[in-house]
Amino acid sequence: MNVPELNRLLKNVSVPGTRQMANRVAGKPESIDLTLGQPDFPVPQAVRNRVMQAVDNEPMKYSHNRGTLELRKAITDFYKDKYSAEYEPSNEVIVTNGGSEALDTIFRTIINPGDEVIMPAPIYTGYEPIVTMLGGTAVLVDTTETGFIPTVQKLEAAMTQRTKAVLLNYPNNPTGAVYPEGTVASLVELFKRHDIFVVVDEMYAENTLDGEHHSFTSYPEIKDRLLAVNGLSKSHAMTGWRIGWLLASAEMIEKLTLVHLYNTLCASMPSQIAALEALTGAADVPAEMNAAYKERRDYIYRRLVDMGLETVLPEGAFYIFPSIKEYNESSFDFAVELLEEAGVAVVPGAAFSEYGEGHIRISFATGMENLEEAADRMEKFLNGKKR
Ligand SMILES: Cc1ncc(COP(=O)(O)O)c(C=O)c1O
Repeated sequence: MNVPELNRLLKNVSVPGTRQMANRVAGKPESIDLTLGQPDFPVPQAVRNRVMQAVDNEPMKYSHNRGTLELRKAITDFYKDKYSAEYEPSNEVIVTNGGSEALDTIFRTIINPGDEVIMPAPIYTGYEPIVTMLGGTAVLVDTTETGFIPTVQKLEAAMTQRTKAVLLNYPNNPTGAVYPEGTVASLVELFKRHDIFVVVDEMYAENTLDGEHHSFTSYPEIKDRLLAVNGLSKSHAMTGWRIGWLLASAEMIEKLTLVHLYNTLCASMPSQIAALEALTGAADVPAEMNAAYKERRDYIYRRLVDMGLETVLPEGAFYIFPSIKEYNESSFDFAVELLEEAGVAVVPGAAFSEYGEGHIRISFATGMENLEEAADRMEKFLNGKKR
């Protein structure tokens, strides 16, 4: 018996490069793993306590499709406090199964086959496949010449009649770039001139290491076309709990809710309870993690610069993205050699699109001891390598 034909668009999608490298390192227990895309901290104690008590005493049935009203209110309060953003808990937020489901819901709501989505690159591995599987096209815009921050000119030059949305992510995975307030303000002016959706992935907003995160949600003038994604995977070390959300205008939320509800009915109820506790009883946790990330960031940045690698200082997230162009080989070959010869696992920049080629992504979501040992090994490896 032959298996019937699958969705043809699936042919254009493959396993992300981040996962491929993580799989390789799994067979090498003596190596130091710097491929990690998740915090190395425990889930906050208050969150664990609250969930254990809830599992014992509360029914854990379906919630409203958009999530419990209490959690939605905690989310909109958070945006009001942090970014002076006005969103209604009743009809301008959906609680999702992680930021991933929020992104999937957004693109399934807005994309028709043939539509283009502009994405500044290097880019997180999770975006392009969603758009591709909907018959849309990701249009990548190079940010490598401008400190990994897109310019108004380049974004505008990439716009066509088919452009449906721009997708922005900062603090950025894989580069750690954050957008200064002036950049956000000038991008808002750009978006006011074009009838397109603005999708912003703020998953690392709470992990802004220098200064403050400047959010597009602070600009009511684009609220009707803004779709903002966030969650607790990174901010509260809750990757496995699968809890996130999206914010949008009431008109958009009505449509987004249809896609979300036929996919999943509602986000996981124990995780919604955990999320409410994270936003109310454990709101200080990200700042504690950031103090550690900052120390590690400063350390690894200095070491990489001392090794002679051209490196942009990441101001957010927990990644650093040095250039390895001088070594004249692909980032994949470089990463494999670094793992095989020096026992240090990193992600090849090419995993984050063609504009990531010539770089490697190092995650500093690991302890100082690991980072020190990895930097020593890497320095030795580079000393023995021809530039
Ligand atoms: C930029 C970015 N967006 C979204 C996600 C997915 O987040 P979640 O775990 O909440 O689905 C990740 C995870 O690595 C990410 O790096």
